[in-house]
Amino acid sequence: MKLTWAKHTQGYTTKLAWTMLLSVGNKSIDDEHKKLISLVNDVERANRTKQVGDLFHVLKRLEALALTHFDNEERFADLVGHPFEEHHLEHQYILEEIRNMKNELVTPDKGWSESAAEYNYNLLSEWVIVHIRVDDMQLKAKLETYPYDFTLPDIPKYRATGQLNTDRDNAFRRITR
Ligand SMILES: [Fe+2]
Repeated sequence: MKLTWAKHTQGYTTKLAWTMLLSVGNKSIDDEHKKLISLVNDVERANRTKQVGDLFHVLKRLEALALTHFDNEERFADLVGHPFEEHHLEHQYILEEIRNMKNELVTPDKGWSESAAEYNYNLLSEWVIVHIRVDDMQLKAKLETYPYDFTLPDIPKYRATGQLNTDRDNAFRRITR
C-alpha cells in the first residue's frame, strides 16, 4: 500500500496526517485514530532527537491508547455484528510489537540503534495506516447506519429512541460525501 497520500514531508521529517479519507464513520473511533497517528509522529520525533527516555514514554502511551482503542473497537464491532476475529489477532500482534520495542529500549548496555529506530517507525507508520484504511474501514458501512457521534454508552438510549443528535450527524454526512 502506498502511504504517500497520508504523509507530509516537512524539511527532513515525514509526518502522518489524518484526513477525511480515513474516517470510518464514527467520531469516537476517528478521534482515537487521530491520537494514534499523533503518537506515531511522536515516535518519529523521538527517533530524530535520539531521546531514549522520550521514546520509551511515547511507546508507553501508545500501548495504553492502543489497548483502550482496541477494546472500544471490538465492542463497536460486536454492536454492529461485525466478525472481528482477524482484527483481534492483528491487535494482539501490534501490542506485542510495541512491548518488544519498549523492552529493547530498557535492555542494559544497549546504545541507540539507528536501524532499530528506523524499523520501529516504519512498522508503526505502516501499521497505523493499514489498520485504519484496510482493517477498520470494513466497519464503515455498518457504523454509518448509526449517528456519527454514537458512543458505546449511547447504546441503551439509542435502542430506546432510535436516534441521537441527528442534525450534527447529517451535517457530518454532508461534509464527507
Ligand atoms: Fe482502529
